[in-house]
Amino acid sequence: MSEILLDVQHLSHVFKPSKHAVIKAVDDVSFQMKKGEIFGLVGESGSGKSTVARCIMNVYKPTAGKILYNGINICDRAEFKKHHKVLEANRQIIFQDSTSSLNGRMKVADIIAEPMYIHRIKPPRGTLRAEAEFQLSYVGMDASCLDKYPSELSGGQRQRVAIARALSMEPELLVADEPIASLDVSIQAQIINLFKHCNQDHGCSILFIAHDLSMVEYLCDRVGVMYHGKLVEMAPTAELFANPRHPYTQALLSAIPIPDPIAERNRKRMDFDELDFDREGVLKEVAPGHFVLRKEDAQ
Ligand SMILES: Nc1ncnc2c1ncn2[C@@H]1O[C@H](COP(=O)(O)OP(=O)(O)O)[C@@H](O)[C@H]1O
Ligand SMILES: [Mg+2]
Repeated sequence: MSEILLDVQHLSHVFKPSKHAVIKAVDDVSFQMKKGEIFGLVGESGSGKSTVARCIMNVYKPTAGKILYNGINICDRAEFKKHHKVLEANRQIIFQDSTSSLNGRMKVADIIAEPMYIHRIKPPRGTLRAEAEFQLSYVGMDASCLDKYPSELSGGQRQRVAIARALSMEPELLVADEPIASLDVSIQAQIINLFKHCNQDHGCSILFIAHDLSMVEYLCDRVGVMYHGKLVEMAPTAELFANPRHPYTQALLSAIPIPDPIAERNRKRMDFDELDFDREGVLKEVAPGHFVLRKEDAQ
């Protein structure tokens, strides 16, 4: 079996919201994820992160390019159909706002257990309800919530139910699209640790999407930075934090608050000048595994 779990090749996606409007949401993006890797995809709102995630989950069909998952070309209809069941069980996604993704007429216990039921997975803890309770405790909620409906929960609790549901499948790939943005800070750390646990103990690969770099340093092995639909930089996390090359990455890094109050007071925020973005550039390898979007003829 190959080492590469996900191979995104020259992915582009265009929206045509009206007759004359064309939005290039994702523009020639390529990256790979190894099995067991946590890859961060970071960029401001509107940079195309969710569109990449949705293409990977077969929600959108890419306008151009292709995506291989375990060598399966998931953009090819026939191949996708053939492997549909396995793909559905092995890939899970968590959205930033799960409110709309939870079935309002189902109780929490059933929401969490449903994927296991659909895919006829034998619950490791005996019954589906025991499994749901276990998963719920993992996201810091107690059994009293099992018989509640989503409308009886807070936004943060609903989000945690969505996370418990996705993790109950022990997915091979978890796509987490700004999963913690709506949660309290104390719970954010708990969920990030839960992702780490799933990665370390179950080998789950994670595509972690965020609009800033604050959690990425702790969680991710590698990071890709997106701007206006383009990947402008990609590197192992430590390398990206030590040697950010693209001005946009430098601006994102300068926006991370520093825990030390004196250092925080002296922190200089850098603004990003749109003129430093070269849409026509190509990704160049400037250090091992470190790529930066540069003009074709730049050194
Ligand atoms: N369903 C859609 N129809 C039209 N435009 C969309 C749609 N979804 C996203 N877009 C546009 O595509 C661009 C990228 O959006 P998105 O992938 O959601 O970015 P991000 O997740 O980084 O905030 C934005 O300009 C957004 O307005
Ligand atoms: Mg998004």
